[in-house]
Amino acid sequence: MLPTSVLVVGAGGREHALVRALVNSPVRPRVICAPGNAGIATEVTCFPVAADDVAAIVALAQRERVGFVVVGPEVPLSLGLVDALAAANIRAYGPKADGARLEASKVFTKKILLKYGIPTAPAGVFTEVEPALAYLRSRGAPIVVKADGLAAGKGVVVAQSLVEAEAAVQDMLAGNKFGAAGSQVLIEDCLTGEETSLLVVVSGKNYVILPTSQDHKRIGDGDTGPNTGGMGTYSPAEVVTPALLDLIESAIVKPSVEAIAAEGIDFRGTLFIGIMLTPQGPSVLEYNTRFGDPETQVVLPRLADDLLALLWSAAKGELTTARAAERPGHAICVVIAAKGYPDAYGKGDVITFPSVLPPDVAIIHAGTARNVAGQVVTAGGRVLGVTALAPTLRAAADLAYTACSQIECASKYYRRDIGAKQLNRR
Ligand code: AMP
Ligand code: GLY
Repeated sequence: MLPTSVLVVGAGGREHALVRALVNSPVRPRVICAPGNAGIATEVTCFPVAADDVAAIVALAQRERVGFVVVGPEVPLSLGLVDALAAANIRAYGPKADGARLEASKVFTKKILLKYGIPTAPAGVFTEVEPALAYLRSRGAPIVVKADGLAAGKGVVVAQSLVEAEAAVQDMLAGNKFGAAGSQVLIEDCLTGEETSLLVVVSGKNYVILPTSQDHKRIGDGDTGPNTGGMGTYSPAEVVTPALLDLIESAIVKPSVEAIAAEGIDFRGTLFIGIMLTPQGPSVLEYNTRFGDPETQVVLPRLADDLLALLWSAAKGELTTARAAERPGHAICVVIAAKGYPDAYGKGDVITFPSVLPPDVAIIHAGTARNVAGQVVTAGGRVLGVTALAPTLRAAADLAYTACSQIECASKYYRRDIGAKQLNRR
């Protein structure tokens, strides 16, 4: 029996996409969200409870008598929201705090990857500046410096020179730039190649691989400028051919799921594996323990399976290993950010939307709110995700970019080349 009422926790584009997919489950569940955003609130009831207020989310789930909670972001997972819900007898999708450590500590994950022989870049772990600098000099540039803990996607410096790498080490270990998250650093060899994001629904030793996707991490066209949370995605990622996906499954997915179980973690949630497709083969960059944002916005529209049934069976420990059933076609998501992001940006700019959208085009809200006049305004760095599904990536991109140009907002910024790499490869 599937649950008839579901609480989605979070406030971003990922949660908007999750809400839309869950609402469309054939069992037509009642879906609510906390805290949500202006777009989610047009679809379901939202409650003003912060995602990382564990006690208040548990109380909300009890008060609203929900049968299932789907947790979006990493912070509540690492704070033990799923543990607290389990203690209150409420089933949830997402790992407990022990599993969330796979994202919350890059050092923890690197040790597991190395212990189980899963392909990943060689790395050293440091808490003191001098040994870290000595290691940098012994490896040479380019080299990658990573803060151990959660840093909202900003704790990774891909340094092209030793000077840059040394500055990153100083910032993290001596300058306290990321607080406790940077009190340990990982220094790892720089890998080259294309990246892909693989989302895997995991339940103990079983897993379902979701449709492939690729993100665009940098703020600027042509992959320039600083890293962001993700500026756009498409699915499928054709660079991941069926043969390559088989290899990734046998060399990375299956061993990862088995390693996590062997470490005593009963992981029931999304394992998001960031993979670099190097000339020597696929290599793990990181694990995240949640759906990707904006990967979810393109992966879910291509999922033929009922999302609610999938997540529920994973949470119950009743999943069987498989590939997800996919809908044909190509999905794209172009993120509209507030000018200035990923650094400082303004909030409160009024957004005007096109009055009609073609079928298969959707405007997913990320950082939006309503002002006192009831207008939708910007309220975050990533503001909207314009998604489209079409028979070809070219057609999907044209649909999404037409909608982007029709959205009015004084501070709107978006990349013009989402999907270009795949389109130009043909
Ligand atoms: P992470 O949060 O560990 O995925 O790192 C964020 C981004 O930094 C990744 O998406 C890559 O673009 C880049 N990155 C991380 N590790 C490496 C590496 N070893 N070599 C090259 N780029 C990397
Ligand atoms: N888009 C990358 C992430 O969700 O971390």
